[in-house]
Amino acid sequence: MVIPQYWEFPPYRIIGGKQCYLEFDDGRSLVDLNSGYWQYLFGYRHEDFLKILCDPDSHRPPSTFISLHEEALTLNAILADRTGFPHVQFNTSGSGAVDTAVRMVDQLRPGRKIISLRNAFHGSNATALMASGFGFMRKASFVKADTFVMIEASEEGIGAIGNLARKDEVSCVILEPIQGVGGCYVIPHEFLADLFRLRREHDFLIIADEISTFARTGEILASKEWPSSPDIVCLGKGISGGFFPISLVLATDEVLEHHQKVGNFFYGNTLAATPLACKLVMLTFKLLFENGFTRIRTLSDSIEASARKHALALRGRGIMCAIDLGTRKDAETASKTLADDFGLFSIPEGRYLSLMPSLEVTERHIEDFFSALSSVR
Ligand SMILES: Cc1ncc(COP(=O)(O)O)c(C=O)c1O
Repeated sequence: MVIPQYWEFPPYRIIGGKQCYLEFDDGRSLVDLNSGYWQYLFGYRHEDFLKILCDPDSHRPPSTFISLHEEALTLNAILADRTGFPHVQFNTSGSGAVDTAVRMVDQLRPGRKIISLRNAFHGSNATALMASGFGFMRKASFVKADTFVMIEASEEGIGAIGNLARKDEVSCVILEPIQGVGGCYVIPHEFLADLFRLRREHDFLIIADEISTFARTGEILASKEWPSSPDIVCLGKGISGGFFPISLVLATDEVLEHHQKVGNFFYGNTLAATPLACKLVMLTFKLLFENGFTRIRTLSDSIEASARKHALALRGRGIMCAIDLGTRKDAETASKTLADDFGLFSIPEGRYLSLMPSLEVTERHIEDFFSALSSVR
């Protein structure tokens, strides 16, 4: 049997995808409002990505597990130019990037606490589950719970970090600029201002998990809006347009310097950063700066306008939004009605319905979504 992951498999099967449409085995074709699970930023069957996937020159060894190659170096230069982070480590999943980032800081500041936020989601390996802010996920990890401290993004949370930091007991704080699984909750600016003040006063690092936020706020990094820059950034999901597993850990000079002192960190895996994967990430950057960001701004305006028109309160930013349906059951019912009666496919995230579309979704689809939602509430 295929063992279910977080929950039982739904009754439907998806058999195809084109642009923003998903085809189901019962003949339905629905507008996908969440770009797969937030990774198909440019939609399905995008010709430019398919061209690279079908090019025999893309399919050659090595991955960065074995040795360096031209594409990895070129991608490193693009990332440095576009994000300001000069160094990169490659992995194959968001969870893998988070594990790498957390182990990196743990090796730089051994034995200290790793702080994360309630309602955060950082992935499904042992480290990432323990860093996630949901009790049932932390229970599923065997990593020692007392290494990880979960706090609220509040004044109280800042107090807790301050208490530990004054005793030099914090290695890092890991957080998403917008909590995707947490219903597109935007981390408040005041909390961030206090957090960065504490970082200036004490010796700990800040990891931004931008695996879901990547590009969706209209900037490569949502943390660009933060009062100061994080030390490490994790990227995944949409960076390859969703067409190949690759994730990145971006780091500052300071992190690399420590890294070189400590020596080998033992990261990476067999399929990390093949020439194919690197080419797909480079294409993502090219498309974003050609007209992707313009499209993101247009869709984002359209989301705000439709939400306002239908008097629905939005959480999130840009094309990373959610609507609070009140209860998990209401969100599930709304999701089913949207699919059955309006041809719109959405996945409930707890009591929220998230709207994290690909750039193939149109303003018409956005308006249909809000109009349908206001009629079912
Ligand atoms: C913010 C965030 N971090 C990490 C992950 C884990 O990524 P992956 O499923 O690629 O391991 C996710 C997945 O949804 C995520 O949203």
